[in-house]
Amino acid sequence: MARIAYLECTRCGERYDATHARTVCGKDGGVLYARYNLSAMVNAFRPEVLKGRTPTMWRYAEVLPDAEPVSLGEGFTPMLPSREFPSVYIKDEGLNPTGSFKARGLSAALTMIRHYGIKKVAIPSAGNAAGALAAYAAAAGVEAHIFMPKDVPLANRIESEYYGATVTLVDGLISDCARMVAERKEEEGWFDVSTLKEPFRVEGKKTMGYEVAEQLGWRIPQGIIYPTGGGVGLLGMWKAFEEMEHLGWIGPERPQMISVQAEGCAPVMRAWDEGKQTSEMWKDASTLASGLRVPKPYGDYLILDILNKSGGAALAVSDDEIMDAMRHWAQVEGVFAAPEGAASLVAYQKLRERDFFSEDDVVVLFNTGTGLKYLDTIEQNEKPERAPLPEARSMGGIIGPY
Ligand SMILES: Cc1ncc(COP(=O)(O)O)c(C=O)c1O
Ligand SMILES: [Zn+2]
Repeated sequence: MARIAYLECTRCGERYDATHARTVCGKDGGVLYARYNLSAMVNAFRPEVLKGRTPTMWRYAEVLPDAEPVSLGEGFTPMLPSREFPSVYIKDEGLNPTGSFKARGLSAALTMIRHYGIKKVAIPSAGNAAGALAAYAAAAGVEAHIFMPKDVPLANRIESEYYGATVTLVDGLISDCARMVAERKEEEGWFDVSTLKEPFRVEGKKTMGYEVAEQLGWRIPQGIIYPTGGGVGLLGMWKAFEEMEHLGWIGPERPQMISVQAEGCAPVMRAWDEGKQTSEMWKDASTLASGLRVPKPYGDYLILDILNKSGGAALAVSDDEIMDAMRHWAQVEGVFAAPEGAASLVAYQKLRERDFFSEDDVVVLFNTGTGLKYLDTIEQNEKPERAPLPEARSMGGIIGPY
């Protein structure tokens, strides 16, 4: 653990040691960030040392916890130049283990859970975090308890069960799942790996920021569009840019950070529009992009601060726009995106229309997961006027071959 100098509250600055598992700041519930002694690394940890290292997020080991990684090969995902917009890149997180960027955070979190000797974990999840937790818990030999809304994509439920987790389906939202974990964790002896309630998921997610910079040849893009539920990736990337500046890898330049949400659940967008520093609980949250169904992100104060400091923006897109964008991306780019990821494309189109970004601005759109995990969601939300999804052809009672 030598690499982590201390954990720091993002609200009051209180410092904690990282010798045992921590949750949030004991004084004010603020999110804790891991802090490293970056000044001591400046001469030895240079971009050149990355050459030839493992193509996973653990290539940035010096700025990750010093424990034996629980790894399934997460990170270092492709940065695809868009075929449609010459200055746009698609960071395709769908290629991660378990098909989403949640792998990064849970790889880092389970690394530390195992390191601290914790045997049981619990998570409230909108879906993909559950699958990732279950996989990494299996790899770490840790017992996983998952609480997810009963209408999550089928893939999330099945994969979690296959990885050996105990799954509870909840008639409610992720906030209801979180309450259930909170109520039972003490009695059951579960460590709570809820979004931002432990310090290491953000450490895994921050590697997306290091990758964006490395894959663009240490240039910082003009903009990053990030589908925002709990906002962990946005926070993580911002932390990565700050660390890289301390290390002397980049200057003070930063991308304009854009939060895209769904019209049916847009607490960050509403707070942004009203100039507030925190969000209000969104009532009756509903969107097919299940990962964006977070009615009040725990780290809202951090998300809004980053949007402000970066000259960014928050906006919301409709489910219909998301469905259109999924099909468009698949056909034009060959990328079958998760609905949350496709929201990034809609946001980019809107920001171009508003002249927020120009044609020449380098903008990275995050596709946070693969569409393959949403086949049931896609089928349920296909518009009737569209070509129907192909049905299996039957020949006189014999199904196929075609
Ligand atoms: C595919 C996908 N994209 C985006 C998100 C939102 O992520 P975050 O909580 O980091 O904002 C999620 C969360 O479940 C997700 O599964
Ligand atoms: Zn604090």
